[in-house]
Amino acid sequence: GKAASTPAKAYAKVGIEREYSTSTPCFANDKPKHYGKKEGAPCRNVRVPEEYGFKPGMLPGFENVAREHGLKTYKDVYRFSLEHNDLFWESCAKMLNWKEPFHTVQDCDLKKGKVGWFLGGKLNVSENCLDRHVAEDPNKIALLWEKDEPGTVQISYGQLLEWTCKMANTLKQARVQKGDCVCVYLPTSPMAVASMLACARIGAIHTVVFAGFSSESLRDRIQNCKAKVVITANEMIRGGKSIPLKQLVDDAVKDCPTVKTVFVEQRTKKEGRYAKHDVALTDALDAASAECAPEVLDSEDPLFVLYTSGSTGKPKGVLHTQAGYLLYAALTQKVVFNLKPGEVFGCLADIGWITGHSYVVYAPLANGITTVLFESTPNYPSPSRYWSTVERLKINHLYISPTALRSLLRHGKSHVKNHDLSSLRTLGLVGEPVNHEAWEWYYDVIGQRRCPVVDTWWQTETGGISIAPLPGDSADPIYPGMAMRPFFGIEPVVKNSEAFADHGSDQAGVLYVARPWPGMLRGIYGDEERFVETYLSEKPGCYTTGDGCVETADGYFKITGRVDDVINVSGHRLGTAEVENAIDSHGKVAESAVVSFPHLVKGEGLAAFVVLTDDYEADEHLVKDLKGLIKHSIASYAIPEEIVIVPHLPKTRSGKIMRRLLKLIAQNKNEDFGDTSTLQDPDILKPIIDAWSKTT
Ligand code: WT7
Repeated sequence: GKAASTPAKAYAKVGIEREYSTSTPCFANDKPKHYGKKEGAPCRNVRVPEEYGFKPGMLPGFENVAREHGLKTYKDVYRFSLEHNDLFWESCAKMLNWKEPFHTVQDCDLKKGKVGWFLGGKLNVSENCLDRHVAEDPNKIALLWEKDEPGTVQISYGQLLEWTCKMANTLKQARVQKGDCVCVYLPTSPMAVASMLACARIGAIHTVVFAGFSSESLRDRIQNCKAKVVITANEMIRGGKSIPLKQLVDDAVKDCPTVKTVFVEQRTKKEGRYAKHDVALTDALDAASAECAPEVLDSEDPLFVLYTSGSTGKPKGVLHTQAGYLLYAALTQKVVFNLKPGEVFGCLADIGWITGHSYVVYAPLANGITTVLFESTPNYPSPSRYWSTVERLKINHLYISPTALRSLLRHGKSHVKNHDLSSLRTLGLVGEPVNHEAWEWYYDVIGQRRCPVVDTWWQTETGGISIAPLPGDSADPIYPGMAMRPFFGIEPVVKNSEAFADHGSDQAGVLYVARPWPGMLRGIYGDEERFVETYLSEKPGCYTTGDGCVETADGYFKITGRVDDVINVSGHRLGTAEVENAIDSHGKVAESAVVSFPHLVKGEGLAAFVVLTDDYEADEHLVKDLKGLIKHSIASYAIPEEIVIVPHLPKTRSGKIMRRLLKLIAQNKNEDFGDTSTLQDPDILKPIIDAWSKTT
């Protein structure tokens, strides 16, 4: 198996040179006992620089309330935000431009799946992101597009508004109406941003599909949201490699009768085939008017649907609406990053994920700053790509994933040394638990110990950052690898095996959020029941996160990873059931079980245990075929590290697969099996262990 039993061995396996080391190597699945102020804790606590200390002025609209009530510190405001929840959010909502004021701050009943914010209010999201800044200065830079071929294109707020209006008129021409879905299958690029904002301008719902997803994944999403239009490019270039987007769309829309028009951007010179419903995007935009009055929308009109993996085989369409989402994204960015006017925000995520929606597009544009569109990969053309980008674009806030950091730190400091990183002010992390080594490397080597590291916990469903080190008081130290403090209005609670733990009781358990907040999902698109069932029924009245967590005695939160069958490979969320479905679709496969194990770069790696049908013997093609199937039905990142053919799976007498045992086998922890008395047959494990030990 791949997972070596000792850290040193594991490092040797993935070839990480340990030029940089901390006292104790910590891994993504570290036991929480390594954290906090406990005696012998290996981590140091880092003081937040004075300039970062939370000030109520960071909450635009709330300053007066804070003054009136004498609220000064994070803790004061946090308590107030829970005790006077409506007043808190009502004041903060002043940071948006409203066409009509709301009459009700919130009308929620989580037990029933009812979530409504800022009712009666009317606004337009694209106007909040564009027009109000253009009115001040149309030449202010909105986007810095760092293309795959190193080099940057600058786009001003004025230009982005023009493109957005042209795109909005183009969509109207294609008969897209308020409430219709538009699928965006594009690389991280200005055209993708204009497409999203164009939907927002006319009240259409966008569904951005990550351009690394296969045509089958794309098809499923288009079918689920019944998209009328797809916006794509002829091809996309990422890490120097071409991905034939248009061809993938052609394969997908064959089975999507709702799609009436496919707009094709010419991202490269390569010519392609055009079908009857295809329209060259540049021609359409050239012909379109550059003026489009923003539609006046209700706070709770849908803004977008974004598909994400759950514990079942089918990804779910997470629905976000207008006002609450935009306010929450913008406010969290402003506060957590201590944002200042004129800054450059470098969230290097793809727009196909929620991180890209919230912190590449909506929050930075609502806040009127400059945002980076990063089309490439951390390693292309060399492992210094991030650092040269920071230097050239003078990025002030970098926001990346622990996976990217881990893959870069193994190449050593030499790739960082020759770059001027003095523009950096905050170092953000998102997407998965971070290990100590990566955290410390970020803080020391990248930030030169000047910049606070903010490890932000949130989810597609939460809309924006929900737990993060800032807005702590400047006297509040940051501990490596801890998401730290809840954002205002967020009430996290930890439930151990029996009950909800008291705050500050230093307990491990499952993380819930005990009240609604403006950025939370409004539902699963087209499946009202699944919303309540998935998120709101485990503990009625509470939102279920699916994450494990520890709340320390000081009230700091440490997220330990998923507790359900959702895994996190390279910061990408994936359901083991999705991978199993793909494997099981092979004619020779009887059944399979996919489990994860700690992986030094990816965070989690996948191991697939596959049982073949009786009349079939494994040959050298089989594993290759299975990998191909997974790539075609999901995406390349879903391909397991190891696919092992086994004679059977370990099952209980009632026929349930004992994944716990497979997980241990995949980590070579055969001595930790514990109680196996519920197994159908205790001898069943040996052949599985043998098969695993033959893997490389
Ligand atoms: C899952 C959500 C949030 C945008 C990107 C991922 C994990 C996220 C952290 C963090 C530990 C984290 C959780 C969560 N996660 N951030 N700072 N520390 N784990 O969004 O695809 O919806 O995935 O990512 O397990 O549930 P997503």
